[in-house]
Amino acid sequence: MSARGLFITMEGGEGVGKSTNLAFLEHILKQGGIDVVTTREPGGTHLGEEVRELLLRVRGEPVNAVAELLLIFAARAQHIDELIEPALAAGKWVLCDRFTDATYAYQSGGRGVARDTVEQLEKLVQGKLRPDYTLLFDAPVEVGMRRARDRGELDRFEQETLKFFERVRQGYLQQAQIDGNRYRLIDAGQSLDDVQKGLAEFGDELLSRWAMVEARQ
Ligand code: TMP
Repeated sequence: MSARGLFITMEGGEGVGKSTNLAFLEHILKQGGIDVVTTREPGGTHLGEEVRELLLRVRGEPVNAVAELLLIFAARAQHIDELIEPALAAGKWVLCDRFTDATYAYQSGGRGVARDTVEQLEKLVQGKLRPDYTLLFDAPVEVGMRRARDRGELDRFEQETLKFFERVRQGYLQQAQIDGNRYRLIDAGQSLDDVQKGLAEFGDELLSRWAMVEARQ
């Protein structure tokens, strides 16, 4: 029987390079012989991708913060049940572009929903499931927003104010402090080469730990 896979999440504000670096880490892990599933939130399932579209679409009317929160957790419940848990149970590693730390940062930090409300939904939807490792790509808000704007049209979140993203950034940094063992803080303001050097070291570290786990099976 293979060991349960690792659950790794990538987090950060807008335009911090998560997607490029997720593909880079995926490549390293696959080369190391790991069966990797990459996915994202909101999304990752048919239902989740439909909810993502609802959440990201720019609308004329304001969206209630609790309505937004519940949609995110609805998509997450389906994602865990349909994709994340089965993959981990089969010994695959799941590399996920955003997870519940984003909810603490955006809905609690950014929108002002009470932390306790997010915690209750986290328990309800996830049970004991938490990421094994979380890479937090951190960069000054203006740097990330400039990159996001250069990518083209902005979605409903990307259209938020710099103040909102400042609160999101602080929300992430607070998460990293609360749960320091799980977090790796990456300075996303460095050159891509430097970021990826750090990621390659992280990947190698995981692969050697994993080899020890497998040897004990
Ligand atoms: P992405 O394109 O970076 O994946 O962005 C998805 C957007 O959804 C991003 O602006 C952050 C937002 N989001 C939340 O507000 N809360 C969440 O829990 C998640 C997973 C994403």
